Amino acid sequence: MISFTGEHILSVNQFDREAVERVFTIADNMKPYAARQKRTTVLDGAILGNLFFEPSTRTRVSFGTAFNLLGGEVRETVGMSNSALAKGESLYDTARVLSGYSDIIAMRHPQAGSVAEFAQGSRVPVINGGDGANEHPTQALLDLYTIANERAYFGHGIDGLHIAMIGDLKHGRTVHSLATMLCLFKHIKFTLISPKDLSMPTHICDIIVNSGHELIVTEQLEGIVEADICYQTRVQEERFETQELANQYRGKFRLNQQIYTQHFKSQTVIMHPLPRDSRSEANELDNDLNSHPNLAIFRQTDNGVLVRMALFALTLGVENTISDFDQEVHWYSNKSKK
Ligand code: NCD
Repeated sequence: MISFTGEHILSVNQFDREAVERVFTIADNMKPYAARQKRTTVLDGAILGNLFFEPSTRTRVSFGTAFNLLGGEVRETVGMSNSALAKGESLYDTARVLSGYSDIIAMRHPQAGSVAEFAQGSRVPVINGGDGANEHPTQALLDLYTIANERAYFGHGIDGLHIAMIGDLKHGRTVHSLATMLCLFKHIKFTLISPKDLSMPTHICDIIVNSGHELIVTEQLEGIVEADICYQTRVQEERFETQELANQYRGKFRLNQQIYTQHFKSQTVIMHPLPRDSRSEANELDNDLNSHPNLAIFRQTDNGVLVRMALFALTLGVENTISDFDQEVHWYSNKSKK
């Protein structure tokens, strides 16, 4: 299992429950830094190579923010056309070169397996920020960290959770990684809701069943009233062969206040990895839930910074020395009041 220092983070399969809980403990320690109550320069002089060859807002920026909050600097390469990959350079060569310029690399790429291939050429740790429809391990960790916090609020742990995952479960890497990681816990009930053609890949369903968890696969929202978490997703239109194929699923599964009231219990927490598709013909998660106290989507995005700080600290071996480099915050900040 993963011991973190100097290691790549490519897949949720590297984690056992103890490793997940270790990340959560360090993430908790990061709160005063993210809330700007104090700052640290523990990674002063370190460089993150942030390589994003697919669209990204929160993953890319929260990786960068997390590194900055630990005192390090961020160098970004965004978009395939701006890199030598567009000239036919192999992932291996790009990795050899860019790892000479950075202490650690975060990378997203449209092809499944590409980040692992890149890591083989890298001389520094590589963190997978999403490889095609395959995996998104840091999102799974931040989702699970959010679930742990939301559950704690109601006096529960992750064990015994009932999660409903809704939407494009075939192409959604976030649900692949989250479902797999949840299997490290006990007595999880999965209700997977999607059109047949967009259902969860068999190898993930096998992991769920073979690790003794309960699995319900359905095309209907009915019968999920007792779910603790409703994890809504976007139809991954960019992964369909043609736009026409994608269009037939647009708006198929919507969640709004009326549907929430009809199908979920009053304590059900609503999650979404974001971005949500807010075009009226899609609108999988309606704005009329924006002020609902159980809407956790922006707690997820805030938690992304804490979890990514923890992963950087662990991977670069500074998790126990962060507070040795504490500094005061000199500017006005109301972040901790939110
Ligand atoms: C997701 C992704 O890129 O896989 N977003 C994210 O990283 N938070 C989900 C999506 O794009 O729908």
